Amino acid sequence: MKVSIDDMEEEACKVMLALDPNELSGNFYRRRLEKKSLFSACDRLIINYIKNNFDIKKDAILEPGCGVGQLSLALGVFGFKAEGLECDRKRYDNAVKIKSAFDKKFGNSRVSFTKGTYPELAPNAELLVSNNFACSYVKVNEDKMLKSFVRYPNLILNIKTFGFVRNDVEQKDLMDKLIALGFVPSLIHKTIYLLEK
Ligand SMILES: C[S@@+](CC[C@H](N)C(=O)[O-])C[C@H]1O[C@@H](n2cnc3c(N)ncnc32)[C@H](O)[C@@H]1O
Repeated sequence: MKVSIDDMEEEACKVMLALDPNELSGNFYRRRLEKKSLFSACDRLIINYIKNNFDIKKDAILEPGCGVGQLSLALGVFGFKAEGLECDRKRYDNAVKIKSAFDKKFGNSRVSFTKGTYPELAPNAELLVSNNFACSYVKVNEDKMLKSFVRYPNLILNIKTFGFVRNDVEQKDLMDKLIALGFVPSLIHKTIYLLEK
């Protein structure tokens, strides 16, 4: 069965709209559901980039701060092994619920979700992907978090939304730190980069 991101969006929205609104954990997804657009434009870009440039047979993917897991789930439907790591209980629970609906509708995938905090939990992967990893943790532990990235051969990061919404100077500062850690950046789109060791 050929499944599109739009098909996945419809199914994921169905699951989330059936939840008690309190279970959404904040306004982040509430706003998206109002427009029935769970996958952001950046999610879609990243999913298509990975689909076209990584190997489903050997490239396991880790997504810290996965929220309700739409990005990891879509990669799973396209055949990748992916793990989403999420510290918020409700979002983690919702990711598991959407996965169960996806497995029924689109077939079992190699996606798993773990409730935990990155980088205290930092499972191995060929690629670490993070879109919208906005969190207070990064503000106080940025260097620790960036150093933890060194164990991953490839990163895909949206540098505009890493930790907090970054202006141009803050984006450059982040990129300089990643380059100093040995990563070589290539632009995927606007503020989304592939960084390779
Ligand atoms: C702005 S939301 C974005 C979620 C998802 N990436 C998306 O774009 O839909 C950021 C998520 O990161 C999670 N998070 C923040 N710090 C984290 C950490 N250190 N480890 C794991 N998850 C974290 C939050 O609970 C939240 O669900």
